[in-house]
Amino acid sequence: MEFKCAGYKLINKKALAENIYSFTIGCPDAARLAACGQFVHIRVDGFTLRRPISICEIDRRMGTLTIVFVVKGHGTEALAKLNEGDEVDMIAPLGNGYSISRVPEKGRVIVVGGGIGVPPLLQTAKECKNVTAVLGFRSYGNIILEEKFRKVCDNVIICTDDGSVGEKAIVTAPLKRELEKGDVSAVFSCGPTRMLEAVAELTKEYGVFCEVSLEERMGCGVGACVGCVARINRNGDEKLLRVCKDGPVFNAEEVLF
Ligand SMILES: Cc1cc2nc3c(=O)[nH]c(=O)nc-3n(C[C@H](O)[C@H](O)[C@H](O)COP(=O)(O)OP(=O)(O)OC[C@H]3O[C@@H](n4cnc5c(N)ncnc54)[C@H](O)[C@@H]3O)c2cc1C
Ligand code: FES
Repeated sequence: MEFKCAGYKLINKKALAENIYSFTIGCPDAARLAACGQFVHIRVDGFTLRRPISICEIDRRMGTLTIVFVVKGHGTEALAKLNEGDEVDMIAPLGNGYSISRVPEKGRVIVVGGGIGVPPLLQTAKECKNVTAVLGFRSYGNIILEEKFRKVCDNVIICTDDGSVGEKAIVTAPLKRELEKGDVSAVFSCGPTRMLEAVAELTKEYGVFCEVSLEERMGCGVGACVGCVARINRNGDEKLLRVCKDGPVFNAEEVLF
């Protein structure tokens, strides 16, 4: 898999919600190679290990990648301090994204995201047809990217844990309803592990193809250190596969949660 490693210019920085930022980075060579569900690996000054962040949007014509991240610890806190015009030291694009090319033309696609797992599904939704997005957030103040999803999806269902916007439910409730209607050719999901496990169980029950994007702490990000393994059952054999290189997207039925 081809990737680029360079210092790229931060072209646009936006605060989307409290402690959540969107960066649009000018990187024509990396944007040309990128696919939905892949990630970038960013070196932040003062930290040895790079930080993996999913690709939220790809603009191949403008030569940009957009990422959305939450300030979680010291690395992302330092990253959030960068300003437009600053350089972002990045390896991109990395990993295997969603298999959107496998989705039959007929039928609906459902993207299911939870919290900061929502961003990689935006580019995925853009590249599919007949898309329903089921997006779960803690509360009103945590909702991100809703308008962008509304522009590219046929239907957007927002759930919040406290019911402040949309349905007071976890994402599996509307997902089950949508699966019940039938005509679903694929489900693509990203979010907390417990949510992914529940999505995987539900899609298995309905016999619908599903892929989930896993998160693991990463060292190299390119498959060399074996520091990011997940337990995967492939062809009846349990294997430890690297989330950075063999994933982060896996067939949901193969993941041993
Ligand atoms: C494939 C992939 C895609 C991701 N996409 C996004 C995204 O789109 N937006 C977003 O906000 N976050 C995303 N994350 C999580 C993000 O990488 C972590 O929140 C971030 O690395 C935390 O760094 P920190 O220095 O702020 O936190 P610290 O807790 O100080 O980090 C310490 C170390 O642990 C690692 N680490 C901590 N939490 C995580 C985590 N959840 N996953 C992986 N490594 C972690 C850090 O990279 C660092 O090496 C993704 C993670 C992976 C693996
Ligand atoms: S982070 Fe090194 S192999 Fe995945």
